Amino acid sequence: MILSLSDNIIQKRFNRASGSYDKCCAFHSVAADGIIKKIDRRNNYGRILEVGHGTGLLTEKLSKIIRSQNIYAIDFSDGMAKILRDKKINCNIIQADCQKLPFEDSYFDLIVSNFTYQWVPNLSVAFKEANRVLKKNGQVIINMFGRNTFKELFYALTQVGMANEFILRLRTYEEIKTIINKEDFGKVNICVEEKKVYYPSAQEMLRWIKNIGANGLKRDFYFGRQLWQKFCERYEALYHEEAGIYATFEVISIEAKK
Ligand SMILES: C[S@@+](CC[C@H](N)C(=O)[O-])C[C@H]1O[C@@H](n2cnc3c(N)ncnc32)[C@H](O)[C@@H]1O
Repeated sequence: MILSLSDNIIQKRFNRASGSYDKCCAFHSVAADGIIKKIDRRNNYGRILEVGHGTGLLTEKLSKIIRSQNIYAIDFSDGMAKILRDKKINCNIIQADCQKLPFEDSYFDLIVSNFTYQWVPNLSVAFKEANRVLKKNGQVIINMFGRNTFKELFYALTQVGMANEFILRLRTYEEIKTIINKEDFGKVNICVEEKKVYYPSAQEMLRWIKNIGANGLKRDFYFGRQLWQKFCERYEALYHEEAGIYATFEVISIEAKK
């Protein structure tokens, strides 16, 4: 598994992407609606933790169904925290790393997270932390991306000579399943779904990835003009359908009850 990006680089990328994120988050927004649908509104939740609030896509939806004073939204990017603060959702915004949560044991009734955990270097520690701050009978609802996300892009990159060692690959569904099953979350339900997303061109797709902060390179890498062009041509030749050029998103959804 290649997951050696330092937290610092990931943090820097999300800081940079905070200004452009909201313009290209339609996919994330639909997935956030999926999390909202899974929340049992009859349940009188006390405190709710949102891990990796980003620009507040899920936070805003949560605040429409749950008293916002009960929502604790964390993210380690100050750029993202600033955007969320400016949206004036009356929730508790805390800058923190989900591998070291600044809360006491058994503090939350519900933990939600939309597309954050795939970026965490030590997933086992992060899930342990989530479990520690979750009350008995508490619930967890998580969406995260799996390894097959952008599988076409990784293949096309190697086709134009980009060495594998520069590319960050996410964890596989099996790896994630093994890690979560080691935690004592009680009943865990984990499922996986692949979705195709269409872009007008390979260049637009690369721009989208940068704007959303999901650059998969292991360090800031100069993508020269020639390599860029070669890559785009190769990609478009390989992965083109009537609706446009496409990329796969592998969404892993986890629901657990402690
Ligand atoms: C793809 S964005 C998702 C944001 C939001 N949940 C959404 O659905 O639009 C991932 C967010 O996770 C945050 N993040 C990544 N690793 C983190 C960590 N270890 N601790 C806290 N936040 C983290 C990033 O700063 C970023 O805002």
